[in-house]
Amino acid sequence: MEKVKIKLEDIEKSFDGNKILDRISLSLKEGEFISIVGPSGSGKSTVFNIISRLIDADSGNVDVNGKLSYMYQNDLLLPHKNIIDNVSLPYVLKGESKKIARDKVKELFGVFGLSGYEMRFPDELSGGMKQRANFMRTFITSHDIMLLDEPFGSLDSITRYSMQEWLINLRKKIPTSIVMITHDIDEALNLSDKIYVFSDKPAKVLEIIDLTDEGKRNEENMIHIKKDILDLLA
Ligand SMILES: Nc1ncnc2c1ncn2[C@@H]1O[C@H](COP(=O)(O)OP(=O)(O)OP(=O)(O)O)[C@@H](O)[C@H]1O
Ligand SMILES: [Mg+2]
Repeated sequence: MEKVKIKLEDIEKSFDGNKILDRISLSLKEGEFISIVGPSGSGKSTVFNIISRLIDADSGNVDVNGKLSYMYQNDLLLPHKNIIDNVSLPYVLKGESKKIARDKVKELFGVFGLSGYEMRFPDELSGGMKQRANFMRTFITSHDIMLLDEPFGSLDSITRYSMQEWLINLRKKIPTSIVMITHDIDEALNLSDKIYVFSDKPAKVLEIIDLTDEGKRNEENMIHIKKDILDLLA
């Protein structure tokens, strides 16, 4: 049987008496890529905060089966640290020396397309490279299960697309289970096995679009699905 890495059942959450999450259920299987799309302020990041136990749900069940990493919305690199020290920070926080932490990450720079930039500082990198460095730091924390909140949010559409291709290739080399929040429906369609469409707040799961079957990924069908999502969010 396939392993379930994250299972949310009927999660409810209110802030100051305002209901934000209305019986959210979600299931992430091992190796799967799920995207969440939904209106701004609907409660998407709140779901990630509940999965990662930064905040508690009011009711419902949260089950995480594995080691989690979380790339926050608007995650930043530390400007005064070079890239390799930024990326290896999770190891230093665990008590490793700077040198050992660097040694542990240096081989991964090639995989993340950052070879030669180890000793540069964040403001010497392009937007896409900074996002990859952020991604790499998340990945080093754990690539068993990754929560990615708008990981390519600040990028222009061309860079964004090349980052998606890069992520598809990375997943072929290194298996991982991912939940990603995005505002970009094309990005969700391009990357995901399943898309969860959230309503405006209080967020409910309006629909789960299953794209696991590669046969469904023909152009005509994808145009239909995109239209369906846009209609649901209208
Ligand atoms: N810790 C908190 N305390 C009080 N209210 C909160 C807290 N976290 C989130 N909220 C509120 O919950 C609602 C949902 O916020 P959340 O950040 O989950 O939305 P989102 O779907 O991620 O939005 P966006 O797409 O803009 O990032 C918002 O109204 C927000 O103000
Ligand atoms: Mg958010």
